[in-house]
Amino acid sequence: MSNEVLKAIQYRRTVNQISFTDQPISKADIEVILEAANAAPTHKRTQPWRFVVFQDQGLQRLGEELSRIYKEITPVEKYTEVAEQNMAKKATMSNVALAIIVDYSGDLPEWEELAATACAVQNIWLAAYSLGIGGYWATPGLINHLEGFLKLEPNQKCIGLFYMGHHDGEPREPVRTPVAEKVRWED
Ligand SMILES: Cc1cc2nc3c(=O)[nH]c(=O)nc-3n(C[C@H](O)[C@H](O)[C@H](O)COP(=O)(O)O)c2cc1C
Repeated sequence: MSNEVLKAIQYRRTVNQISFTDQPISKADIEVILEAANAAPTHKRTQPWRFVVFQDQGLQRLGEELSRIYKEITPVEKYTEVAEQNMAKKATMSNVALAIIVDYSGDLPEWEELAATACAVQNIWLAAYSLGIGGYWATPGLINHLEGFLKLEPNQKCIGLFYMGHHDGEPREPVRTPVAEKVRWED
């Protein structure tokens, strides 16, 4: 890869809690990551991305809420205690979790503000990578039940949780089919 930006794009990976270490993510690093999110492109500059940052006791509360929702919404025949505990562990095994929220302005088609927020998430992922921090965008069905916990406004929607941690995972090549299969050239 010819430069640092392209290298980050190529080598950014999903890193999950199994590889997270206990090393805390500094407030300064969290702020760099949030500034990167805020630099995302947006039609009419509506800047629809919103975040709730969970650390320390906040992660405990998030984990408890995810477990509680899992228990509440899972049909009895599908419920397992292990899954309930794992919901909480995703939060408590992370150093930081961001709730990713779209704030729909009503001035644009919703898909544009969803797309802009996804651009912000990619910036988060790349900025985290550049700081040696791993993470991933998690989208369990439970995120559709977090309105009260996150104190969302009626025009807001949670579209995932971004779990982060310093990690000891090995670099991995991306698993992708060739781009040539996804492109048609018209000369
Ligand atoms: C919109 C979106 C939702 C995702 N949701 C999840 C998820 O719920 N759980 C998970 O483990 N990974 C999730 N991922 C991460 C993908 O699984 C991951 O990006 C993909 O496997 C490619 O791996 P890489 O990120 O290492 O290139 C999500 C990614 C995107 C873009």
